[in-house]
Amino acid sequence: MTAHILGTGRFVPEKVLTNKDFERMVETSDEWIVTRTGIKERHVVAPGQTASDLALQASRQALDEAGLTPDDLSHIIVATCTPDTFTPACACHLERKLGISGKIAFDINAACSGFTFGLEQARAVLALHPHSKVLLVGVDILSSRTNYEDRTTCVLFGDGAGAAVLTGAPGEREVDGEVLDVILGTDGNYSELLHIKGGASGWPYKAGDTVGPENFIVMEGREVYKVAVRTMESACRAVLDGQGLTTDDVDMLITHQANQRIIEAVGKKLNIDNGRVFMNVHKYGNTSAASVPMALAEAREEGRVKKGDLVLVAAFGGGFTWGSALIRF
Ligand code: UT7
Repeated sequence: MTAHILGTGRFVPEKVLTNKDFERMVETSDEWIVTRTGIKERHVVAPGQTASDLALQASRQALDEAGLTPDDLSHIIVATCTPDTFTPACACHLERKLGISGKIAFDINAACSGFTFGLEQARAVLALHPHSKVLLVGVDILSSRTNYEDRTTCVLFGDGAGAAVLTGAPGEREVDGEVLDVILGTDGNYSELLHIKGGASGWPYKAGDTVGPENFIVMEGREVYKVAVRTMESACRAVLDGQGLTTDDVDMLITHQANQRIIEAVGKKLNIDNGRVFMNVHKYGNTSAASVPMALAEAREEGRVKKGDLVLVAAFGGGFTWGSALIRF
């Protein structure tokens, strides 16, 4: 029994931070940011706007395309490392905002690879209960965990949400993206290269403590870069090999949107020409768990992914975590 995507959606908050804005905040330049990352702007939330608010908008779009209502859902899986609250889970807040109850709603945290981990969770649910309807959302508000005094990280991140609705029994639906396979991996030995510590049980705050730099994302960018390229390439090869397919069969490569240079390097190593490599990092920056589902939804909206196309997905993030997936639309 396989999983089928019936609809996708995406949402970014209205407020935009441009590279020029960062020139006023830290010692950086539009030229440095564009040359090193490809990022031109990113969207960030307004005060009070939460992860489940963004997830709600992306979810509604995915449900509309699937021709389903929130009531039809059986499961809500949210991949995030910046939930509204530590508890309840972001998925429970989303359930409430969708106006439903009694579903099975839970979060997973695999940082920027979250959507691929969620796909595997959805496949597991649908293997047990093929008629279930699973809402899978990747959402992050990294602006809430970004140190806007640290130029090495603050220019990179943006906020957003991407969603997909899946079932094991698609019937004769118009949209049908069959998830052919998912391959995941983690290596906790790399945890120091990319982390957010403050406020978690390893770095608890007491009432009255001042929030310091430990509250924010820390990344050894250069090291992460190397492992990200190497790992996404091998994960892509593994998922293709498993299906007896090659990179020539791929119509669109959709990777985690962290850095234009990383995305192009993965495409080049896989011998997939730029015309088959999706890129939207220039508009949104690195949106963590939202980046892959947002890119998938946008690629489909733009007609870059059409019926019959084979999509190769690759993600990489803190943990380290990584995942690849093959989806036939
Ligand atoms: O989403 C999870 C996965 N994350 C990733 O995949 C991100 C991976 N890493 C990257 O994308 C890149 O490593 C970065 C974009 C973070 C950095 O690019 P880089 O080409 O690796 O630059 P670097 O870290 O080697 O820094 C080069 C120089 C340094 O100065 P020195 O030491 O050479 O004098 C930095 O201090 O650039 C400096 N620098 C900046 N200069 C202007 C770092 N950030 C900035 C900045 N503006 N914002």
